[in-house]
Amino acid sequence: MKNLIEKLVNTFGPSGYESRVRDLILETIKDDVDEYRIDALGNLITRKGTLKEGGKRIMVSAHMDEIGLMVTHVDEQGFAYVTNLGGVRPLNCMSNRVVFADGTEGMLCARDMENGKIPSMDKYYVDTGASSREDCKVKIGDPAVFVGRFVDMGDKWMSKTMDDRIGCLIGIEALKALKDSPNEVWFVFSVQEEVGLRGAKTAAYGVDPEIGIALDVTLCNDTPGLVERNLKLGAGPCIKAKDGSLIGTPWLNNALYDAAERAGIPYQIEVLRGAGTDAGAITLTRSGVPSSAISVTCRYVHTPSEMVDVNDVKQAIKLLTVFLEGKIEK
Ligand code: CO
Ligand code: ZN
Repeated sequence: MKNLIEKLVNTFGPSGYESRVRDLILETIKDDVDEYRIDALGNLITRKGTLKEGGKRIMVSAHMDEIGLMVTHVDEQGFAYVTNLGGVRPLNCMSNRVVFADGTEGMLCARDMENGKIPSMDKYYVDTGASSREDCKVKIGDPAVFVGRFVDMGDKWMSKTMDDRIGCLIGIEALKALKDSPNEVWFVFSVQEEVGLRGAKTAAYGVDPEIGIALDVTLCNDTPGLVERNLKLGAGPCIKAKDGSLIGTPWLNNALYDAAERAGIPYQIEVLRGAGTDAGAITLTRSGVPSSAISVTCRYVHTPSEMVDVNDVKQAIKLLTVFLEGKIEK
């Protein structure tokens, strides 16, 4: 599991450029699924099992893309200016390293600190060591991601892109563990979540599920300076009651709580003031799909040092597997 997450987080895959992550996942699971396809947007859509008496068609979605940057222009001195791909906060950009698809690395910086304010995104440039526009290895439209190597901290893991390669890992491991089930489970590895849940939208239309479950990280407020303190690291996987994109369907959440209790898995009920996951797109598909999410709390989301608890990840895999193995009743 550790080897796989290390490979997953180290693979380049900003929104719209997920093919390397998709190749890695497909290589890992292709012998474990009954069918797979890649849709027009690039979602990897896989099926495990067939519908049996009393079963349901379920879509489980984890997004492959990560937040990143894209070059807007390169100036005469060879500095590459950037815009954000997804929820990149200017505060988290200051003095970080970024890497482009071809391996070119650079320093992301802005020098406009008037009145002590954080510079806006349009002030940020990447210094790749070039001395002129002609000399610069990157050009307009090139995507980049943050550099943040994987660190095994014992019972915690830290790196860039725990959001959402942790969800991908949970999907992969549950898919491999899932044996006997009355349900037809469609494991989807989606694209472009960070820019507005776009891949899950088309994937859900194609799969036409009766139930939707997103796998993602969620915010964690057990660190200094945060006041709400309702979501902790290491207190078990979360079941989504609400975020900015979804109200977790109450009867479906009851089925998830039951599965957790059956398996003796501690869980947290997740209520977020904002944010969203693929479940927000699935639930609005066609005539509507009862949906929820299983999330893992993550400190420092959308920074190069996202941190998760390994036990939460293991328990999330178990919760998903137990839930998918059972009959799901309203
Ligand atoms: Co995210
Ligand atoms: Zn995410």
